[in-house]
Amino acid sequence: MIRIAGGEKLAGTVQISGAKNAALPAIIASLLTTKPVVLHNVPHLADVETAVTLVQALGKEVRWRGRTMEIRGGEELHPEAPAELVQRMRASFLALGPLLARAKRAKVPLPGGCALGPRPVDFHLYGLARLGARITFANGAVLAEAKFLRGTSVYLDFPSVGATEQLLLAGTLAEGETVIINPAREPEVADLAELLRKMGAEVRWDTDRVTIRGRRELEGAEHTLIPDRIETGTYLLAGAITGGKVRAENVEPQHLAALLDRLSLAGCEIEVGKAWVELIGPRRPKPVDFRTWPYPGFPTDLQPPMVAFLALAEGRSTITETVYAARFGHVEPLLQMGAKIQVSGSVQVVDGVEGLRPAAVEATDIRAGAALVLAALAANGVSHVRGEQHIRRGYENMVEKLRALGARVWEEED
Ligand code: EPZ
Repeated sequence: MIRIAGGEKLAGTVQISGAKNAALPAIIASLLTTKPVVLHNVPHLADVETAVTLVQALGKEVRWRGRTMEIRGGEELHPEAPAELVQRMRASFLALGPLLARAKRAKVPLPGGCALGPRPVDFHLYGLARLGARITFANGAVLAEAKFLRGTSVYLDFPSVGATEQLLLAGTLAEGETVIINPAREPEVADLAELLRKMGAEVRWDTDRVTIRGRRELEGAEHTLIPDRIETGTYLLAGAITGGKVRAENVEPQHLAALLDRLSLAGCEIEVGKAWVELIGPRRPKPVDFRTWPYPGFPTDLQPPMVAFLALAEGRSTITETVYAARFGHVEPLLQMGAKIQVSGSVQVVDGVEGLRPAAVEATDIRAGAALVLAALAANGVSHVRGEQHIRRGYENMVEKLRALGARVWEEED
């Protein structure tokens, strides 16, 4: 549990870690080769530890020193992903493509749903079937088999991050060209493509598609992960919601364009450097409307933290969640803290209030947890945020980083 004595303006500099959602597919990409893959700027997160356990279970050796990770071995891959790892972390499902491409067969449990609603993998399976995989199901797991994968074109109904990554991974060892039409363009997907290119894959981006020319085998590579744009947005919002002044360093500002646009509309003063962003929060936010959207749209992962900020605005904000069916786990706890939010369908109508009340609240997913921490930082008094295990999945050393910004936060036994 995290105890927060709110009401302080945050001020100072925060160093941003490597992107969780770039680290996870990059670690899994090491399954595609028997040569060493070295990753730099790897964040210390529970989800990264899960990804390491996964590739070790499949036959890789991992050495992780500081923020550098070396993954080697795996001449023979074990074709079955342990169920409890996939249940724990949906991104484990990305092992299906590489296992199929390398071991010609794979058994990976279907990832469970989570607080964000059902999270199907139909686009992943459709794409792999198009590449020639025979897909069957047995007690909650996907069985995939293919003597070889043959490139073809795959249209994605939705620019799914995971499905795009799954097909980028599988396509690197498929015969001929794999063309993904309507691919996800999130920076983390581009970072994976960059790593695959360093491993010898030919990847070409066009306006509406990405083309991968397969190879018989891939080389090792060395790669530095991009900074975490969601972590960056979360700390900028911590400065915004407390009316403080926060500078985030080691960032890629252009990855945050949609957020910065709406934060300036809400009254934040923002200055952008080559690898830093500085934000001065307003005395009280102005209301702002936005809808989440695939990149470069407003990131769905920053929707809950942004709603916490707008809960204090001087007026009504309308927020539409278009990526997930039900990303509202933050609403109930924010209501407990005095926020005025009505949810109808995919729309949240937030009528800003003067101040939030401290409370004991429960996080149900990574980003809802972040939203509650932000709300607690703004509320005058002591709040308790339970479910810290969710927060630890996605934020490296959050308590230390917040303390460095002057926040009065403590980690306690639940
Ligand atoms: C990635 O999840 C991220 N996770 C998520 O971040 C992020 O919210 C999401 O992309 C959207 O940006 C990682 O990168 C590890 P999707 P992913 O496939 O790949 C539907 C966090 O907090 N869909 O783009 O699962 C799906 O149900 C996490 O760091 C299908 O219908 O996202 C959802 O409504 C949370 N069928 C939408 O597409 C499929 O086969 C977006 O999913 C796949 C997805």
